Amino acid sequence: STLGASAAERGGRYFGTAVAANKLNDSAYTTILNREFNQVTPENEMKIDATEPQRGQFSYGNADRIVQHARSRGMQVRGHTLAWHSQQPGWMQSLSGSTLRQAMLNHVTQVATHFRGQVTWWDVVNEAYADGSSGARRDSNLQRTGNDWIEAAFRAADAADPNAQLCYNDYNIDNWNDAKTQAVYRMVQDFKQRGVPIDCVGLQSHFTGGSNYPSNYRTTLSSFAALGVDVHITELDIRNAPADAYRNVTNDCLAVARCKGITVWGIRDSDSWRSGESPLLFNGSGQKKPAYDAVLTAL
Ligand code: XIL
Repeated sequence: STLGASAAERGGRYFGTAVAANKLNDSAYTTILNREFNQVTPENEMKIDATEPQRGQFSYGNADRIVQHARSRGMQVRGHTLAWHSQQPGWMQSLSGSTLRQAMLNHVTQVATHFRGQVTWWDVVNEAYADGSSGARRDSNLQRTGNDWIEAAFRAADAADPNAQLCYNDYNIDNWNDAKTQAVYRMVQDFKQRGVPIDCVGLQSHFTGGSNYPSNYRTTLSSFAALGVDVHITELDIRNAPADAYRNVTNDCLAVARCKGITVWGIRDSDSWRSGESPLLFNGSGQKKPAYDAVLTAL
């Protein structure tokens, strides 16, 4: 079997990967992509700098290529990401206040409208909370427009694409005891109580091995799910790809009914943004690593 087919048999889950448009001409790459995965996330092509490089001028070519590749093969697409402090184009970095707020909301509206009906889930807001023990929001130009910027982004995305499922996505929200996890949990709880349209939480899960793959990861997944949102493992990679860690992550997702699927952040180690750490399921030659077998066996 394959990762995608096996995940589909486990309650209709998906098993996906980040995809880079410039690799769609690499047949070794697309052979694995088309065989193994039933979900894709554009790795960079839907980010703000890619889709609105000049203010008011939108550029969708590379993102459209990935969406077309995926949808023509029955793979679901996760949109990543509409609002983020990073990978902003220069024009946005230099804005502030109500001008920035309006530009951000216009960006959300335009991009979500362009992909309406083609994207199953949107990472509406990415990485808005600070690391460490504060439990505070991350300081950013978007945060400085007012604490309500996150819910404003979700409402704009919902208006533009009412059928898409809208997610909040972050890293270091894996350990249930961390202040950052608790802070995001309280935000989601507040949004659900006040009717802010949020459907899901994405845990990026960029792990460095045993040290930050927490033994309470399953508790984190089930606790978010108990708020009435789906949970997604959105950017999984693990330093040195230990088979047991990949197996545990897979089993944790399968144990939580609302954990809808797992996306690995690239196909081959050579495709990874952390290529020096060999964190993925296929080696640079496209061969399956022990972690691949561990995941497939667990699925
Ligand atoms: C990374 C990409 O993999 C790199 O190609 C790019 O240079 C930087 O961004 N969290 C996220 C992803 O939400 O968008 C990031 O992707 C990895 C960390």
